[in-house]
Amino acid sequence: MKAGIARERLDGERRVAATPDTVKQLAGLGLEVEVESGAGLASGHSDQDYAAAGATVVQSLDLGSLDVYCHVRPMEPSTAEALRRGSVTVGLGSPASELPTVQALASGGITSFALELVPRISRAQSMDALTSQALVAGYRCVLEAAMRLPRFFPLYMTAAGTIPPARVLILGAGVAGLQAIGTAKRLGARVSANDIRPASADEVASMGGTFIKLDLETAEASGGYARELSADRGALQRALLAPHVAQADVLITTAAVPGRRAPLLVTREMVQGMRPGSVVVDLAAESGGNVEGSIPGQDLPIPTGDGHGTVTLVGIKDAASAMPADASRLFAKNVANLLALMTRDGTVSPDFSDEVVAGTCLTHHGDVRHMPTAEALAAQPRSEGAR
Ligand code: NAI
Repeated sequence: MKAGIARERLDGERRVAATPDTVKQLAGLGLEVEVESGAGLASGHSDQDYAAAGATVVQSLDLGSLDVYCHVRPMEPSTAEALRRGSVTVGLGSPASELPTVQALASGGITSFALELVPRISRAQSMDALTSQALVAGYRCVLEAAMRLPRFFPLYMTAAGTIPPARVLILGAGVAGLQAIGTAKRLGARVSANDIRPASADEVASMGGTFIKLDLETAEASGGYARELSADRGALQRALLAPHVAQADVLITTAAVPGRRAPLLVTREMVQGMRPGSVVVDLAAESGGNVEGSIPGQDLPIPTGDGHGTVTLVGIKDAASAMPADASRLFAKNVANLLALMTRDGTVSPDFSDEVVAGTCLTHHGDVRHMPTAEALAAQPRSEGAR
């Protein structure tokens, strides 16, 4: 079977779905690998590196000839339409926001796997791209904050005086938030964090952070994810967080609720209550924003309430793509590990009795297998659904 590795075309996307290392892994499974010329350049891998690993490098993939198509970003509907009926795709699918592509995949009889859907169970961790990419994003957003903060993160005791450590507050202590805590700690900051899942207090402590316990019920849904707070409880959470936000030199927000817009945790007024020079980094800016007014890809100066300066509000965009080498190294392993689970003697043949395979499948044999996406498609007006 032939597997094709796409050169990503979305502006700002610098990752790739296979590295020379995983090309060897795929070849070891008995797959023939074709890589689109230039696919790995931004991640540090030349066409020659891929060729040396055993891939054939082609100017552009002949989509209709592939048995397996590997990609990072959700594909365009036209790409799905060009794939061969019965072929398999692996990559990010963003099923909730890419309904025309999902429709094209289903109509084209493509068996597609969306890495966002990998079940959050121990056995699937090596295929879990949400986790691997959140790790990169959590690390990166601390560096973004540190570069903009007009002071040190660590404590310095010098002959010229003592400089206290920066105070970093992290809201949302999932995978990205925990990595942000660890990174800020390694830089020497004093770190505190809050989350609404009951398990998060121990997780924050395990990374060296101080958990901020609010007088608020915890909110956990199935699978270890957070539940959306009611409007009243959201307002209460913001009120309880306000004094902690005001004390922070750096605020990093990473809160998300699967399938929903990111929760609003910090109002403009709360940002204005911070000291001049403070930095706010909103990792959720692309999914609606945890901080009022954040814009993906932009730094905004927010005047402080005392009129003496500004707080820098950073809306993060493409955080994982900003570190394409290691983000691709992890992503490519996720892709290859999922393919390894489904490949026997050089043939990719998904076994749907496996909960990881079944859970990750988006479309198969003309059906949309991910129920929330199938329901979203069914709820569309007819003309849109048919597009
Ligand atoms: P996520 O990206 O959906 O959300 C990030 C964080 O935001 C979560 O910790 C969530 O509780 C928090 N959050 C949501 N609303 C909030 C609010 N109003 N205030 C404060 N925080 C809020 O979640 P992520 O990072 O993908 O993972 C969440 C959990 O999933 C993990 O901590 C873990 O329990 C579980 N998980 C399990 C894995 C496995 O077993 N293979 C792998 C990865 C995660």
